[in-house]
Amino acid sequence: MNSDFDRRQNILKQRYGAQAAPENLMWNDHVEHLLNHRSVRAFLDEPLPDGALETMVAAAQSASTSSALQQWSIVAVSGEQKQRVHDLIAPTVPAGRIPWINEAPVVLLWVADLSRSNAIAKAQGTEPVVHDYLDAFLMASIDAALAAQNAAVAAEAVGLGFVFLGVMRNAAKELAALIDLPKYSFVTFGMAVGRPDPKRPSGPRPRIPQSVVLHHDHYVHRNHETHLPGYEEAYLAFRDMWGMDAKTWQDAVHTSATSMKYMKGREKLRATLAERGFRLL
Ligand SMILES: Cc1cc2nc3c(=O)[nH]c(=O)nc-3n(C[C@H](O)[C@H](O)[C@H](O)COP(=O)(O)O)c2cc1C
Repeated sequence: MNSDFDRRQNILKQRYGAQAAPENLMWNDHVEHLLNHRSVRAFLDEPLPDGALETMVAAAQSASTSSALQQWSIVAVSGEQKQRVHDLIAPTVPAGRIPWINEAPVVLLWVADLSRSNAIAKAQGTEPVVHDYLDAFLMASIDAALAAQNAAVAAEAVGLGFVFLGVMRNAAKELAALIDLPKYSFVTFGMAVGRPDPKRPSGPRPRIPQSVVLHHDHYVHRNHETHLPGYEEAYLAFRDMWGMDAKTWQDAVHTSATSMKYMKGREKLRATLAERGFRLL
């Protein structure tokens, strides 16, 4: 693979499969970096390089944030505290499903955080009534997700790898207690980050065709039904290449939508959020 063109065509092919790859992308190095993303679940046994965390946080803080309110925080856990987080979450997932928490030198916990705003409002002697509403919770969660994605892109740009960890919500209540979270805050997800192990690489995972996710002017109902067969081929080829069981994407979607086992404790989330101060009106 020696030319930019060949390398980029290969990335596109891996992302969409041969048939569905768009042909008119406006390539540059930054776009190539984004399209070449893959989650990393195997890390070298080494600490984060000096300045990596600060670089990721600066990138995170450079993401857009609703009304500049910056209603998110990160708790970076390492060493014994990371072990405690692992031990809390491990029983909620099938055996062997989260070794990456142990392998990564740091796990970042991304917090949707209304606690600062709440305290600032109360310090003026007023009730932060807006925080009772679902929209405030959503705003903080969106801010946390955008910040995390910026940090993720920065991590990849300096040669690190990461995987997001929704499993953190499996034991949301206990995790909040473990890291001393204040009320009006909540761990949306985690992120294991470290130096990828080149001996255990991962690859770009195929995505559904653009024609399924991109609608012009009006939503085209059930358009996935005509566009998915080609995707399943690419999806199965990816699973085969990386030694995963032969399951179609629609099988995975079906299980995630119909099996309560998939919730793994997250069915208690509303109650936990209520205890943490979120009324979600
Ligand atoms: C919010 C969020 C939570 C995730 N949680 C987990 C997780 O708990 N465990 C895991 O192995 N991967 C997790 N992932 C990673 C996804 O499985 C992964 O992004 C997806 O399969 C696509 O693969 P790619 O990131 O390599 O393109 C999560 C991703 C997101 C966005």
